[in-house]
Amino acid sequence: MSTVLVTGGNGYIGSHTVIALHESGYEVVIADNLSNSKLEVQRRLEKITGKSFKFYNVDCCDKEALRQVFEENKIDSVIHFAGLKAVGESVRIPLDYYRNNIMSAITVAELMKEYGVGKLVFSSSATVYGMSEDVPFTEESPLGVCTNPYGWTKWMIEQILRDFASANPEIKVCLLRYFNPVGAHESGLIGEDPRGIPNNLFPYISKVAGGTLECLTVFGDDYNTPDGTCLRDYIHVCDLADGHVKAIEYLAKTEENVCVFNLGTGKGTSVKEAIAAFEKACGHEIKHVFGARRPGDIPVCYASTEKAERELGFKARFGIDEMCSSCWKWQTMNPDGLAD
Ligand code: NAD
Ligand code: UD1
Repeated sequence: MSTVLVTGGNGYIGSHTVIALHESGYEVVIADNLSNSKLEVQRRLEKITGKSFKFYNVDCCDKEALRQVFEENKIDSVIHFAGLKAVGESVRIPLDYYRNNIMSAITVAELMKEYGVGKLVFSSSATVYGMSEDVPFTEESPLGVCTNPYGWTKWMIEQILRDFASANPEIKVCLLRYFNPVGAHESGLIGEDPRGIPNNLFPYISKVAGGTLECLTVFGDDYNTPDGTCLRDYIHVCDLADGHVKAIEYLAKTEENVCVFNLGTGKGTSVKEAIAAFEKACGHEIKHVFGARRPGDIPVCYASTEKAERELGFKARFGIDEMCSSCWKWQTMNPDGLAD
């Protein structure tokens, strides 16, 4: 049985991917330092899958600690999710972001080389396309100028991994550029569990719907879009998880050293449409007001999905209604998130 090391596998996208890998017959080993997730996720994963996954509480920047994971397991491929991801925080503490995200990626790559592990999938982001308004973004769209240190770490790690793969022909790297992951597992047992007041739209709407937060501020309704609010390509986290399984399968057969895929639905949804869809899912009104634009926001962002469909065989199954209903189930079952 093929074994996948999932770094950051205790986090939001990682935990959903662990389930998808398990359901596809992979053995999974998880490495996570719990800096942005709770150990309770492991118990929830066990409840969902009936399996207790091998879990290492390690910092992926700590080479000696991570070496133990490679020593004790026969790893065939790595999915590297471990990283810090809060845009605003990255502006306040940039060095923490550069150190954590870049050092962890380099450390994982070094150990892969040392232990002869040849397949790496990396969590990148549509943020690498920068402020361009030339949508949809294809994998060939030029990389842009990022607006924050978090985005730059993704941009830089993509380059580092390209250089790593071209210097080491035995290594194959797949860069996955996620659009906006939202939603939760159908069980309602795992989902996005942000610390403090959320910055992103869906976690915020969920908390307003659940009554923990009073009112959502819509950041700008004067954009040049059909209803004046920004369009984003929201993708169900379970679809995204399946995309990772496809990427692992693809790396097993491709001759390419480096491949890049967008993971999105190809469809833009406005903030107003997202609110309306959530209201339908929860059955009541979501209180909201219209405020100023958020600096750094682009009006429209959605993926070209052609390449992922053609080469990976990946196509998102869920639409905005399923994204909202799964978020709402997660919110109602876990109004205060997971316990420590
Ligand atoms: P998350 O914070 O829920 O998960 C990341 C996990 O990595 C957490 O469990 C955290 O404890 C762990 N971690 C962080 N640094 C670590 C380190 N040095 N060593 C070991 N573990 C570490 O975030 P997520 O939303 O699941 O995102 C996963 C990855 O996908 C991240 O790299 C993120 O930047 C990227 N990504 C996320 C989004 C999004 O909107 N969620 C979009 C694009 C890309
Ligand atoms: C954010 C990140 C981006 C990351 C992406 C992936 C920022 C600035 N950017 O992008 O780096 O790759 O998530 O998920 O955080 N909105 C409101 N009110 C709110 C929150 C959001 O109106 O309280 C609007 C935003 O203006 C935007 C849309 O909702 O138009 C989506 O916002 P968000 O969920 O933060 O995602 P992105 O801005 O696309």
